[in-house]
Amino acid sequence: MKRLENKTALVTGGSRGIGAAIVRRLAAEGANVAFTYARSSEKAEALAAEVNAAGGKVIALAADSAQAADVINAVNKTVAEFGRLDILVNNAGIYIGKDFQEHTIEEYDQLMAVNVKAVYVAALEAVKHLQAGGRIITIGSNMGDNAIGPQTTLYTMSKSALQGFTRGLARDLGPKGITVTLVQPGPTDTDMNPADTPLADFARGRMALGNYGSVEDVAGLVAFLASEEGRHITGSWVTIDGGMNA
Ligand SMILES: NC(=O)c1ccc[n+]([C@@H]2O[C@H](COP(=O)([O-])OP(=O)(O)OC[C@H]3O[C@@H](n4cnc5c(N)ncnc54)[C@H](OP(=O)(O)O)[C@@H]3O)[C@@H](O)[C@H]2O)c1
Repeated sequence: MKRLENKTALVTGGSRGIGAAIVRRLAAEGANVAFTYARSSEKAEALAAEVNAAGGKVIALAADSAQAADVINAVNKTVAEFGRLDILVNNAGIYIGKDFQEHTIEEYDQLMAVNVKAVYVAALEAVKHLQAGGRIITIGSNMGDNAIGPQTTLYTMSKSALQGFTRGLARDLGPKGITVTLVQPGPTDTDMNPADTPLADFARGRMALGNYGSVEDVAGLVAFLASEEGRHITGSWVTIDGGMNA
């Protein structure tokens, strides 16, 4: 029996990068998976086709995390399609890095809407459906603990907020047998953070292991937390950053 047989998961931002790896991994573990995307419709459809051809049950949902109504709809479409929701993975996130003086209030609103508000909204809707054994797993960043350098204030602030969300909600949902955890990746090779740039060389120099993580590394951790083996972990986070914050 696969670890996530008979479970249904919703992954936000599953069309590319870490989210796509989480979709593949949860489906391989036996879960039915709905995932959202904002712009990459072709990649989303291709991913769903690939996983379904391999025997998975996956659907792609167009849903902009910056729009609360889209997030609520995604939760409800998942339940309508698969009849239940067991695992919410809040993965969608954006990065805006620039000198602080150049930031705008519009950028604050956009980044916080996707990185923080959408997480809150998705959880608020998901708890209507999650039962004992349910999981809320959010993808934060190792920068939630440690800003790597200048030009990171807004992103770092958003990822630190997820720590408070994780602590508080674990207390709220613990009595229902639902766990709330945070996964904090460090540099992971994706469109957001390609491993072949001068910035990547700087990051590698700060990492104990000296190499970028892969999306599969992060997906494996998410699958563990989602499984029965993760049942006693809640209100806390696991940093998966090759020792960058060591
Ligand atoms: N890569 C890293 O080094 C790293 C390190 C620490 C934390 N993280 C975190 O890991 C998560 C995934 O990052 P990644 O590196 O995989 O990023 P990525 O390569 O840029 O992929 C982002 C994914 O999120 C989706 N997304 C972005 N904005 C969205 C929106 N408004 N609504 C719905 N979906 C949206 C994208 O969908 P579309 O394709 O439709 O745009 C895409 O599927 C993020 O929360 C990020 O902060 C990444």
